[in-house]
Amino acid sequence: MTVAIYPGSFDPITNGHLDVLERASKIFEKVIIAVLGNPNKNSFLSTETRVELIKKSVSHLKNVEVDSFIGLTVEYAKTKGAKVLIRGLRAVSDFEYEMQMAQINQNLGPELDTIFLVPKVENNFVSSSIVKEVALLSGDISQFVPEPVNTYLKNITKNQKN
Ligand code: PNS
Repeated sequence: MTVAIYPGSFDPITNGHLDVLERASKIFEKVIIAVLGNPNKNSFLSTETRVELIKKSVSHLKNVEVDSFIGLTVEYAKTKGAKVLIRGLRAVSDFEYEMQMAQINQNLGPELDTIFLVPKVENNFVSSSIVKEVALLSGDISQFVPEPVNTYLKNITKNQKN
């Protein structure tokens, strides 16, 4: 069985991430979406919340597991028996960072291969940071994120205003 991991911050998960995940789930027998729970990285949402929102957003994908990890992605991949690392590639602007990460990972763990998947063009401009900014300014993010994320962010921004 080919296991793939899809690591990221997912702070929060967006429709772009979901698009990539759905594509990966059609190609690989098992896909583990893995949230980086780095205590030193300032995240908007806690690791637990990010995992919970992903679980609610991917329940239709039966071969997808949701997990979190700390430390090196290549080491995490080994513990899961994963031979493939999935990343989404939206635009040329993603390329340098993604290439650097893929090559570092290739050095650290030569047995793990990075595969890039491209989301639908309408999800190209969607990023977690843009979604965060719009949500915090009470803008409508419903078309950019899965429904559980929209509901959650609406509630926290509403409570911040009260
Ligand atoms: O969603 P992001 O923030 O672009 O994801 C980046 C992530 C989590 C995949 C990357 O930072 C990562 O793999 N971090 C774990 C530490 C590690 O393995 N670093 C070396 C490769 S960059």
